[in-house]
Amino acid sequence: MVKDLRSFINLLEEKGLLIRVKKAVNRRFELAALIVKAQKIGKAILFENVLGSNIPVVSNIVGSRRMLALALDTDEEQLLEEYTKRSSHLIEPQIVDQGAVQEVVRVGEDATTEMLPIVTHSELDAGPYITAGIAVAKDPETGYRNASFNRMQLKGTQKLGIRMMPPQHLGIIHSKAESKGKNLEVAVVIGNHPAEMVAGSTTLPYNVDHFTLASALRREPLKLVRCKTIDLEVPADAEIVLEGEVLANIREEEGPYGDFMQLYVPIAHNHIFRLKAITHRRNPIYQTILAGTVEDTTLLALSRESLIYKAVKSSGSEVKAVSLTPNLFNCAISIKKKFEGEPKNVAMAAFGAYYWLKYCIVVDEDVNVYDLSDVWWAIATRSKPDTGLFVIPYARGFPRDPYHLHQTKVGIDATAPIDAKEERIRRRIPNVELTTLEDYI
Ligand SMILES: Cc1cc2nc3c(=O)[nH]c(=O)nc-3n(C[C@H](O)[C@H](O)[C@H](O)COP(=O)(O)O)c2cc1C
Repeated sequence: MVKDLRSFINLLEEKGLLIRVKKAVNRRFELAALIVKAQKIGKAILFENVLGSNIPVVSNIVGSRRMLALALDTDEEQLLEEYTKRSSHLIEPQIVDQGAVQEVVRVGEDATTEMLPIVTHSELDAGPYITAGIAVAKDPETGYRNASFNRMQLKGTQKLGIRMMPPQHLGIIHSKAESKGKNLEVAVVIGNHPAEMVAGSTTLPYNVDHFTLASALRREPLKLVRCKTIDLEVPADAEIVLEGEVLANIREEEGPYGDFMQLYVPIAHNHIFRLKAITHRRNPIYQTILAGTVEDTTLLALSRESLIYKAVKSSGSEVKAVSLTPNLFNCAISIKKKFEGEPKNVAMAAFGAYYWLKYCIVVDEDVNVYDLSDVWWAIATRSKPDTGLFVIPYARGFPRDPYHLHQTKVGIDATAPIDAKEERIRRRIPNVELTTLEDYI
């Protein structure tokens, strides 16, 4: 398995999955517009010439399940099963003395956000945002280490706004430090291998170190180095680390920001991160993620699909695949149906396992849950809305929901009747998967 971001970029290039942009690009909107274009053709994109910075910017490195599977040394079909297997055997990370991420150390006045090509993504965003930073912090009472993605708004040469609210663990950890009147030391890691990216996107039980999950996904201990100015450890082969602290008892306006729902989060009073040091590789690569697009949702989906997969499996159903893409609120699950009515039990297991879920569509095993046109085909041809659709009013849903738009759940059985299987055989052309147009033109 490739060990770090830059070797993964090389691998993507070898596989024809990377676009290099040599032309100068403005990091206010132009860069984000090009990320969208790269996403449309399923490729990562590396900007070599970003106006006003010497540092290249990469994005969309896990812009599809295929790319994420490649990073984790598996294939698309096995990804969910493999994640589920690996994540059930967590591995302790390993602290080492030296790491590439500390090839250059800038402390105090030398550490300034001006060196970073921080990107402005969406039209109404309050300004440039760090979107691919994994924030590392420790519980001040127990020493438990957390690592999660947290957006950060650029506010000054050594000042950034940071969004971190309980129940997210970083918010809980900060409130513990704040209750003692103390600032919280935080390291922000930018330019990560996808194993750390998945770990930073996953909600784990409190007290479970996200780097144990990253190690499990890597199938070996993740190497960590001690920060230079704060008492934290960070991935040794990352590209850039911001060392600093989140201040106690200070909140300032943060936002608006175009988030993972493709909606703007309104201005809120959020925390402030004060930068103390930057460490980085000699020629660092900066990374950015466009919220609400395929890279963001691919990252967030995997661990949540795994929760559903495990719940459905343990309820006794034969689950084939689960998809929460492209937007995390809707799910398609394919099963080998054994009983009429079973799809409703499957949907209920999914709603129980993952409370953000709003619509759950259960399909037969011949339907590709990762292909929305296939899922719609199943709804069109196999669902029977009078008996196969059910509504659960007012259940727990997405918490940031002032209008209660997410509190009701809908299940759809889009499976064919078991005794109608023969009549429902899908039209299929032999060898279509093996036939390539290039061989004929
Ligand atoms: C690109 C990206 C950006 C994210 N930004 C935030 C954020 O700003 N605030 C937040 O609460 N969660 C954010 N998340 C979600 C957290 O990473 C996610 O909730 C994680 O599971 C937290 O787990 P924890 O509570 O176990 O630490 C983001 C996720 C991704 C993939």
